[in-house]
Amino acid sequence: MPSPIELRSDNAAGAAPQLLNALAAANTGSALAYGGDAWTEELREVVAEAFGAPDVAVFPVSSGTAANSLALSAMCPPWGSVLCHETAHIITNEGGATSMFGAGAVMQGLSGERYKLTPKTVKTALDAAQWGDPHCSQPSVVSFTCPTDFGTVYSPDEVSAVVAVARARGLKTHLDGARLANAIAGLHCSPAALTREAGIDVFSLGAIKGGAISTDAIVSFDPEVSDQLLYRVKRAGHVSSKMRFQSAQLIAYLSDGLWVKMARTANAATAELARGLRERDVALLAEPQANIIFAKLGDKVAAALADLDVYFYSMGGGVVRFVTSWQTTPHDITDMLGRLDQALTVRRTAPRTVRPRKGRSASVPLPDVLDGLDT
Ligand SMILES: Cc1ncc(COP(=O)(O)O)c(C=O)c1O
Repeated sequence: MPSPIELRSDNAAGAAPQLLNALAAANTGSALAYGGDAWTEELREVVAEAFGAPDVAVFPVSSGTAANSLALSAMCPPWGSVLCHETAHIITNEGGATSMFGAGAVMQGLSGERYKLTPKTVKTALDAAQWGDPHCSQPSVVSFTCPTDFGTVYSPDEVSAVVAVARARGLKTHLDGARLANAIAGLHCSPAALTREAGIDVFSLGAIKGGAISTDAIVSFDPEVSDQLLYRVKRAGHVSSKMRFQSAQLIAYLSDGLWVKMARTANAATAELARGLRERDVALLAEPQANIIFAKLGDKVAAALADLDVYFYSMGGGVVRFVTSWQTTPHDITDMLGRLDQALTVRRTAPRTVRPRKGRSASVPLPDVLDGLDT
């Protein structure tokens, strides 16, 4: 039996050895609790350096959902709304956490090609808002997801063009960077270029998907938001007493460009997979620019591929999602494409049912992709 090939999620990958070593190294003696330790102070300096922001505030938290929802709750009043793409993780997959922590703040999903906001869609939404009407939520924040949940990436110019529209109406700006390293690796830009220099006030710094065990972080360039986060993060139970172990992971992740190097490995695997899929005439929903691909395999081929121990998520309508990680090897992709060749031989045989592989199906909505699919 061939060994399974893991393409469900980078969340299914293990922890990077460099981060495990950093954890072991931090496990010496005692340290002041709740972030009063030397690692947490060093982390702030490392982030300040990486993002060119001496006064930055950094709040380690234990999940991407916590990072997004706590950041947004500090940026948006209870009567406010967060504008985001209609497929953004914050609106589709976080169980309303932003509304809960935001005491009723709502999210407004906007359309946009390639799963991205555009200046036009944001301006149209802002023009249509009922400003000053207490019956209507007041647009307060624009949130980008980069890479998007569909593996496309905003360039710094695309971010700043939307930011200009948002800022003109007094909105704050947030970026869900659950896979920020993959975006930076794909764009070959600096971390600052896609965030602070593009006009982002606060972002979620993902690390868990990139090789950490138990920590992402909120990074704030906005002192007012930082002041609120001090209390909000604590009240949400995200100020870990042994924060040094979170900070040690994040320092190792960000040092010597490790995060971007690991993301390059993941992105290269996705690029190679995309090439192989195209060669086999498998249509992609979008050209991947990071480490996620959605492909129109069809249900029969998907079921045959799952039977060959390739792990992936079926999204419905014959569309499947493949995600690579820092652990994915070139051999994994060659092997996967070999198994796909076998699976493709069933294209003309009798219909079968897709059997989900261990774990829940990813539930990203596919608003505009299912029409005309040959499943
Ligand atoms: C784009 C994006 N943002 C945020 C999250 C939330 O991360 P977590 O599952 O750690 O809460 C995810 C998780 O898959 C994600 O894909």
